[in-house]
Amino acid sequence: MSDDLDKLFHQAMSSLTSCQTLELCQQIDIKYLGKKGLLTAQLRQLGQMPAEDRPAFGQKVNVHKASLTVALQEKKTALEAEAIKAQIANERIDVTLPGRGQTTGSLHPITIVNNRLVSLLSGFGFKVAVGPEVEDDYHNFEALNFPADHPARDMQDTFFTKTGMLLRTHTSSVQIRSMELQKPPIKIIAPGKAFRADTIDATHTPMFHQIEALAVDKDLHFSDLKSLIYALLSHYFGHEVKIRFRPSYFPFTEPSAEVDLWHNDRWLEVMGCGMVHPNVLAMSDIDPEAYTGYAFGLGIDRLTMLTYGVNDLRDLFSNDIRILSQFPSEHWEGI
Ligand code: DAH
Repeated sequence: MSDDLDKLFHQAMSSLTSCQTLELCQQIDIKYLGKKGLLTAQLRQLGQMPAEDRPAFGQKVNVHKASLTVALQEKKTALEAEAIKAQIANERIDVTLPGRGQTTGSLHPITIVNNRLVSLLSGFGFKVAVGPEVEDDYHNFEALNFPADHPARDMQDTFFTKTGMLLRTHTSSVQIRSMELQKPPIKIIAPGKAFRADTIDATHTPMFHQIEALAVDKDLHFSDLKSLIYALLSHYFGHEVKIRFRPSYFPFTEPSAEVDLWHNDRWLEVMGCGMVHPNVLAMSDIDPEAYTGYAFGLGIDRLTMLTYGVNDLRDLFSNDIRILSQFPSEHWEGI
């Protein structure tokens, strides 16, 4: 019986020696020392033994159990230490490796140009005004003196909603909203998105950006408009620009003009402008006999393209990070 006990003990010790994981240690613990463990079970044999053998056998079982308990604890401690060592080795950081650095975001080029224009025009005393992108016919067309049969009012050119609203086709609608809210003197700019049912190509997208300017006061003249546009573009480009005013037509201005900029040996159209049509003032309850106004609408995307030498408008809207990351926001360089 004592031999069996020794065998059991050695068997337990040898499986402990080859044991490599804490889970196996636990299993050995249960197998030999648990309530129903093999060594524990040995004590139950005491009852069938001659009385004189019991003390020695009982003691032996207890010694083996104690030895195995100590051995198990040592093994567990060793395995835990190894696990920690392995984890440290695994998570080791090589501080000599070069850092990955931080990638900072930058503003979209259109935002950069927009911010710059807003900042310059603020310097000329204009306050930013806003209006909704989903507009009604009145603010987008009617109050701007568009005749009922004007092509822009056609489904072909304008996005209409099912409820009879439309996506504003220009930021000029904010002129009307501003005149509803305040009386002259008025000096506002409205940067924002406009929408037209254009087919997408290198120079057209169904959504584009404009900045609108409107001034209404006593004694405003075309010369005021001219000098403002000249100063604005010269400041924007960082040098005196060459521009020309070409007669044009807009329903809401009279006279109307397109402004062309001399750039890279050719004339480029950069904005529409004119003196606010008396009908527009009258419709907004401003006496056209007492007040005059001037306005312009500038295409921001167009200006962004020529500022940065972007040839295809679609490049500005494709969200290609390789393109967009080339325009650090804090950097401004006139051309
Ligand atoms: N709203 C015009 C357009 O989108 C641009 C424009 C022309 C705006 C003349 C004006 C203006 O304020 O006076 O084509």
